Amino acid sequence: MRYAARPHSDDGSNSAHQDKMGEMDGKTAVIFGVANKRSIAWAITRAMVRDGARVVLNYQNERMEEGVRKLAEELPKDTLVAPCDVTDQEQVGRFFAEVGSACGGIDALVHSVAFAKREELGGRYVDTSLDGYLMAQHVSAYSLVTLAKAAEPLMEGRNASVLALTYLGAERVVESYNVMGVAKAALEASVRYLAADLGPAGTRVNAISAGPIKTLSAMGVSGFSDILKAIADRAPLRRNVTQEEVGETAAFLLSSRSSGITGQVIYVDAGFCIMGT
Ligand SMILES: NC(=O)c1ccc[n+]([C@@H]2O[C@H](COP(=O)([O-])OP(=O)(O)OC[C@H]3O[C@@H](n4cnc5c(N)ncnc54)[C@H](O)[C@@H]3O)[C@@H](O)[C@H]2O)c1
Repeated sequence: MRYAARPHSDDGSNSAHQDKMGEMDGKTAVIFGVANKRSIAWAITRAMVRDGARVVLNYQNERMEEGVRKLAEELPKDTLVAPCDVTDQEQVGRFFAEVGSACGGIDALVHSVAFAKREELGGRYVDTSLDGYLMAQHVSAYSLVTLAKAAEPLMEGRNASVLALTYLGAERVVESYNVMGVAKAALEASVRYLAADLGPAGTRVNAISAGPIKTLSAMGVSGFSDILKAIADRAPLRRNVTQEEVGETAAFLLSSRSSGITGQVIYVDAGFCIMGT
């Protein structure tokens, strides 16, 4: 594991960090899913750093490494960056062993990871291949179980908080979302089962159901621009949400301010999910 290169200032903090400190001071946040500046995980990372957390980021593979390391240069110098494909048990084991020795424990764990084959994100759900189904489930849902299990000993006794990212397609039919909707349904159920398992040790597990946001992954869903337009037309707030709005709710769910909340799916979607027609 290598440390991120450079902070903005000599004391290792950037300006956002100086604005508001405290809530996550002395805490470690492990965040999976930063690919680029548009990633929801990046907005969560910035909120965590601002609130004082030391951050650990993964990158999925060598292709993603340079981009993630470049982004990490904007963060305090104690930021850690390490490889971890969530479907590779060995890498997951190595990743958390390194986090354990570098940070001692984990207070916040973010799962902002999903993948489905492009050909499964369009057309009819009935045409989903077994291979495509299993891949979407493995990367997008089972990986939360993988990460929670690997992190469990590092979270024990710290009132830690685990957060996953989900979407309305888990519970309603959203055109083209198909196999990913079914994976998100499994992810949301996993949030509840994991909350029950980890709760006795003080660890909470929740999910944010985010409204559609233009990111790398989202652009793989065919007709995504139509989805954005439908929200802007019909959501109570008559607009889409931003990564930053998701980041702020994440900061709340990852902090002790939400200490009584576990096993929940919280909607950050400009209110769209309440609408009947
Ligand atoms: N963008 C949206 O409209 C939207 C809405 C609701 C929920 N979400 C969810 O938010 C989360 C983050 O997505 P995003 O929109 O920020 O897109 P993104 O493309 O920026 O992030 C997806 C991340 O998943 C990672 N990933 C994929 N397969 C992986 C693997 N095998 N191992 C490790 N990492 C892997 C990618 O490297 C990437 O960093 C996803 O769970 C997504 O389903 C997104």
